[in-house]
Amino acid sequence: MTAAADLVSRAEALAAEGAAAFGRADSLDALAEAERRYLGKASALNEIREQIKSVDGSERAVVGKAVSAARAELEAAHEAAASVLRADALAGAAVRERLDLTLGPHEYRRGHLHPVTRIWRDLEDVFVGLGYKVAEGPEVESDWYNFESLNFPPGHPARAMQDTLYVRLGEPESVLLRTHTSPVQMRTMESQKPPIYVIAPGRVFRRDTLDARHSPVFHQIEGLAVDEGITLGDLLGTIEAFIHALFGSDIQARFLPSFFPFTEPSVEFAMSCVFCRGAGCTVCSRTGWVELGGAGMVDPNVFAAAGIDAERYTGFAFGFGIDRLVQLLYGVDHVKNLWDGDVRFARQF
Ligand code: FA5
Repeated sequence: MTAAADLVSRAEALAAEGAAAFGRADSLDALAEAERRYLGKASALNEIREQIKSVDGSERAVVGKAVSAARAELEAAHEAAASVLRADALAGAAVRERLDLTLGPHEYRRGHLHPVTRIWRDLEDVFVGLGYKVAEGPEVESDWYNFESLNFPPGHPARAMQDTLYVRLGEPESVLLRTHTSPVQMRTMESQKPPIYVIAPGRVFRRDTLDARHSPVFHQIEGLAVDEGITLGDLLGTIEAFIHALFGSDIQARFLPSFFPFTEPSVEFAMSCVFCRGAGCTVCSRTGWVELGGAGMVDPNVFAAAGIDAERYTGFAFGFGIDRLVQLLYGVDHVKNLWDGDVRFARQF
């Protein structure tokens, strides 16, 4: 074999060998290594090119062509292997660096209802279930609705039971922040004909000094039923029904005689303590009972002020403090905790 033929066959062998090595490379690193070996400066193919000078002038072109063909074949094989490995590397990265989009977002703390709002709504639910509608009245009230129409004439000693915050409007002491939700009774009786079954939850105000169980701003819920043949028994049964609905049927209701100018007879009502079930504990001052509010049969004078025929209709009314109930249910020792606006307190419920 001539020297030229030998170089040509070596170039062809190198091309086949290199292409096979590129095909076997199982990583881009291994391919780079094979590339240095078959296509690099110190490659056997370059050596062949160097040796072209040593062959006869007439045969140099043949060897040169063979070297170029081998190089082209190697480059094509390299590119084919590289593109396969690059695609593999990309797919591997896609798996490795995959973002798990099913993970939830950053924790987002949802707020919740204030305990007073929650009990307020629970009370509405219970009474709506008993067939009552929800009524509303203004927080800034006239003396007429807050007192006089409810049988507290000017100078009546019962007015002193509710320390009043007056507003500088109109005649002196004629406009005030309502001291109870009872004015909604009168407003409802004026605007609706019996049968009337309403509750009126809302905010009320008294010039009471802040202490553990008194706040100058608090919440009450009023109830009013006016119909033919309503008796004291209906009142007692309704209060018992709501206490059972809210606290369970083993909690008892208790009624004691009392006085309110707008009801006759009047009662104070209490329920057996939900903490000690009547046995006596610190929450109920060891009495086994927790006072809730006042109630009674609507006074005929109130019917007269509302223009309702007291010969035909009778009715009952009740009212009690929501904040007190919340304090009791959640064991809140001081009423100011409810309204300080401290989220650390509110988050406990
Ligand atoms: C009344 O306000 C009457 N309107 C209740 C009523 C309605 C009687 C219908 C008859 C018929 P009294 O002043 O007792 O009653 O208040 C009722 C309740 O409000 C109390 O039992 C107590 O739970 C709550 N309460 C009174 N003052 C405060 C206060 N300063 N802070 C928090 N709660 C209070």
